[in-house]
Amino acid sequence: MVVLGKARLFFLSLMYHYVVKFCIGGDVITSTEYIRDPASITSSGGRYRMGFFSPNGSANRYVGVWYDNVPTNNVLWVANRENPILDSSGVVTISGTGNLVVMNGKKELVWSSNVSNSVTDAKAQLSDSGNLLLLKNSSNSSANDADPLWDSFQHMTDSFLEKMKLITDSRTNEKQALTSWKSPSDPSIGSFSASLDLRNIPELYIWNGSSLYWRSGPWNGNIFIGVPKMQSVYINGFSLVDDHEGKVYLTYSFAEASYLSYLLLKSNGDLVQPYLNQNSSSWGIVWSSHTSDCDVYGRCGPFGICNANKSPICSCLRGFEPKNSEEWNRGNFSNGCIRRSLLQCNGTTNGSSTAGKKDGFLKLAMMKVPNSGIFYSTLKDDCPGNCSINCSCVAYAYDPGVGCMFWIGDLIDLQKFSIGGTTLYIRLAHSELDEKGHLKEIIAPTVIIGTLTVIVTIWFARRKAKKQALNKSKEKHLSGGEAPSVLMLGENLSRVEFQEFVKYKIEELAAATGNFGEANKLGRGGFGPVYKGRLPNGQEIAVKRLSKASGQGQQEFMNEMMVICKVQHRNLVRLLGCCAEGDEKMLIYEFMPNKSLDTFLFDPLKRVHLDWRTRFNIVDGICRGLLYLHRDSRLRIIHRDLKTGNILLDEELNPKISDFGMARIFGGNENQANTRRVVGTYGYMAPEYAMEGRFSEKSDVFSFGILLLEIVSGRRNTSFNDEDECISLLGLAWKLWNEDHALTLVDPKIPATCFEVELLRYINVGLLCTQERAKDRPSISTVISMINSEIVDLPRPKQPAFTVRKINQDADSSGQSQRTCSANDVTLTILQAR
Ligand SMILES: *[C@@H]1O[C@H](CO)[C@@H](O)[C@H](O)[C@H]1NC(C)=O
Ligand SMILES: *[C@@H]1O[C@H](CO)[C@@H](O)[C@H](O)[C@H]1NC(C)=O
Ligand SMILES: *[C@@H]1O[C@H](CO)[C@@H](O)[C@H](O)[C@H]1NC(C)=O
Ligand SMILES: *[C@@H]1O[C@H](CO)[C@@H](O)[C@H](O)[C@H]1NC(C)=O
Ligand SMILES: *[C@@H]1O[C@H](CO)[C@@H](O)[C@H](O)[C@H]1NC(C)=O
Ligand SMILES: *[C@@H]1O[C@H](CO)[C@@H](O)[C@H](O)[C@H]1NC(C)=O
Ligand SMILES: *[C@@H]1O[C@H](CO)[C@@H](O)[C@H](O)[C@H]1NC(C)=O
Ligand SMILES: *[C@@H]1O[C@H](CO)[C@@H](O)[C@H](O)[C@H]1NC(C)=O
Ligand SMILES: *[C@@H]1O[C@H](CO)[C@@H](O)[C@H](O)[C@H]1NC(C)=O
Ligand SMILES: *[C@@H]1O[C@H](CO)[C@@H](O)[C@H](O)[C@H]1NC(C)=O
Ligand SMILES: *[C@@H]1O[C@H](CO)[C@@H](O)[C@H](O)[C@H]1NC(C)=O
Ligand SMILES: *[C@@H]1O[C@H](CO)[C@@H](O)[C@H](O)[C@H]1NC(C)=O
Repeated sequence: MVVLGKARLFFLSLMYHYVVKFCIGGDVITSTEYIRDPASITSSGGRYRMGFFSPNGSANRYVGVWYDNVPTNNVLWVANRENPILDSSGVVTISGTGNLVVMNGKKELVWSSNVSNSVTDAKAQLSDSGNLLLLKNSSNSSANDADPLWDSFQHMTDSFLEKMKLITDSRTNEKQALTSWKSPSDPSIGSFSASLDLRNIPELYIWNGSSLYWRSGPWNGNIFIGVPKMQSVYINGFSLVDDHEGKVYLTYSFAEASYLSYLLLKSNGDLVQPYLNQNSSSWGIVWSSHTSDCDVYGRCGPFGICNANKSPICSCLRGFEPKNSEEWNRGNFSNGCIRRSLLQCNGTTNGSSTAGKKDGFLKLAMMKVPNSGIFYSTLKDDCPGNCSINCSCVAYAYDPGVGCMFWIGDLIDLQKFSIGGTTLYIRLAHSELDEKGHLKEIIAPTVIIGTLTVIVTIWFARRKAKKQALNKSKEKHLSGGEAPSVLMLGENLSRVEFQEFVKYKIEELAAATGNFGEANKLGRGGFGPVYKGRLPNGQEIAVKRLSKASGQGQQEFMNEMMVICKVQHRNLVRLLGCCAEGDEKMLIYEFMPNKSLDTFLFDPLKRVHLDWRTRFNIVDGICRGLLYLHRDSRLRIIHRDLKTGNILLDEELNPKISDFGMARIFGGNENQANTRRVVGTYGYMAPEYAMEGRFSEKSDVFSFGILLLEIVSGRRNTSFNDEDECISLLGLAWKLWNEDHALTLVDPKIPATCFEVELLRYINVGLLCTQERAKDRPSISTVISMINSEIVDLPRPKQPAFTVRKINQDADSSGQSQRTCSANDVTLTILQAR
């Protein structure tokens, strides 16, 4: 491919006034500044180039957009994919109708953006996100993403780039789709397409023509649950957005700007995610939809289960047998399996020989859930009860982000994963469950279902399974008996997404909180007091009344709130709304009955509720919440005040991070910067933040490291009052670690010997997070991999910051209280003129 070098382009633009050009530089094409094969334009940042190319193995010329300055110039978008130019006489220009067009040497139209508009002086511009835009000539390039007449992102081919939107209109069911090339040498539309399906729970499908080829599993607000690697590698940055006008779209963005990556639907139907580190010299593949034959939709037929690690890969579910065993044994699994014993429903409907015996559920862990799941409830406890009550319900599962899912009819596309996945419960006749040897698999409908993928939990699962075996005789019966209720088919879209943001009136809130009475005061956070309230409809809320220091105007505040309100995750406290009247600004949150983690962790009586499993869960949840904040495509929030007091616990002691976005309200929009305004809590603050006001994701990691050590030890970082040494928890951890006695740090309430390996790992991670230099600290996604033992060998931590507590930094109080070791756990808001 011949392209013009930058210097030459610059030279050409210098010659602008003297030469009648037909080749131009820069990022713009107009009717007078057009390009002729082999010329091209580049985006202003230099990452993308648009011009003519020939695919590997073909001499045809196409117009496309590709990555510039990378090892292989992967083509990301093609204009005339159905209509190649056979020689190198092509031209890209703006037509008299204001369209972007491709013409061949005979001035015949090969391709057109084909929009009807009244603009005659349009221009095309290649933006720095790789989007080719058709704009009014008069519009500013700085505002070029606003309202183009046409853009290539909305006419995607086989590549899905950061900031693209894969839209499905839930009302008309109109879908945008990625469409594969016919072959690597032919960009014309192939048989595969990928689009978002909203009929049940939102899901990404790949189609081969009109037959389903691959499915991602339901979207749970965070990941697609049928993509196990999404859990382990956190290829996140993906989000599913409901624009509240009927359109739902998938989009993503990466936190690391240097990380080049996109999704590509290959001509063989595989959806892959190529990536390129700035460093490396070739493309790698982060992820592929096709890792084994099991990934082909319905590989094992109805009620068949696919396991890539087994041979043959297909088997029938327990209680089922091949429908056609001759074909099955020959390796033709397409007919699937059928039940050996008919369902008896709740023992009264099909009253034959086994009348009176209710059906039960077989538990299958780490599963890809079958196709066409129906959402019907957010309450975990409802799942087994409501499924058993409806005789057509043949399976159910629970995911905290989706709620209950259930299935009727045939179960298709079941797969057993070796990592990740969901626990699935399959309805079987009582006689099947009664068989000896299968009892371990029978579970009570009330058992908590989780999707954690971690070794420690597996350990627990085993232990739990043993205990359940003891309880088995009591648990054969299902708790049916309640009236069947309405099933919310297809109504779940906006529920998976954002709730409406409510603007409350001050009178409402005063009434709800007893006039902000002392009796209703829950505590005082760093930004003002928090009150418990109860709305007229009975809903309990927490109202945070911001201190007047927030310098924002009302509109600014409201805008900020609208944005923060969209930051939702199951490990973040949900913001329900706000109130801004006069001087008053208030935030309304969901109410957390169990208050904050510190009230448990540091209370000698309540601490016993925090067994290791619970603590593990809490750590895992905090990680996930934090990862979401750091990676969230819209905001990338740095919390800046992470501490046990800001980790709230729900009824089941699941952690939810609170007060995120506060620094944003108080500190404006700086993302990562020097700031003179320090918001944080001593003891948790990273040194570069406490001393120089520099914050970044790594300063949150520091705070997380402290939190982790506190959770493991059950002691406050700031609770140490050692007269002689002034040593902090962190200092103690470091000391014990170097003396090979790290386990003595562990809370005596945890049986350290049982969890030695995990505990040492946690302490190791805690120390890595609190290293002096921000650069040495792992990112939160690495922390997750470390904690989950995906990274097996942990590095040795370097000396952490603040091992010996420095005496009060405040200049005003220098000289006094040289031995003050009991810095209180207070949030500081130091506001300085900028
Ligand atoms: C182009 O095709 C040849 C043979 O078909 C193959 O060896 C080569 O790797 C291909 N190059 C790229 C960049 O795909
Ligand atoms: C352009 O659009 C019109 C209607 O919008 C359609 O009839 C025509 O086929 C399109 N032409 C091309 C080349 O796509
Ligand atoms: C586009 O705008 C620039 C200045 O804004 C002008 O010089 C140029 O002639 C315009 N081009 C067309 C095709 O109208
Ligand atoms: C283009 O931007 C410049 C500076 O950003 C501004 O002065 C000018 O008014 C803008 N022009 C249009 C047409 O928006
Ligand atoms: C896609 O469908 C076509 C036609 O039905 C079929 O011939 C082809 O084998 C399918 N491809 C894959 C990868 O299944
Ligand atoms: C990038 O390259 C530098 C020097 O060439 C090397 O030190 C560093 O480890 C590389 N980083 C990665 C992620 O490969
Ligand atoms: C599998 O079995 C079904 C029905 O028994 C038959 O129609 C189909 O052709 C078989 N497929 C193959 C690949 O043999
Ligand atoms: C009930 O029994 C009838 C025949 O005995 C059978 O056709 C039907 O499928 C059974 N219902 C269920 C839910 O198993
Ligand atoms: C299940 O049993 C209850 C009473 O125990 C009965 O009211 C209900 O109708 C039965 N369900 C079905 C589907 O027959
Ligand atoms: C069971 O669920 C199906 C599917 O939603 C529904 O059509 C049917 O009415 C339900 N049956 C009962 C008894 O609730
Ligand atoms: C076993 O059953 C007893 C009594 O029903 C209950 O208290 C206990 O929690 C159960 N254990 C498990 C592991 O379910
Ligand atoms: C589910 O069952 C519970 C009790 O088991 C009941 O309170 C609830 O209303 C049911 N909900 C649905 C959607 O069926």
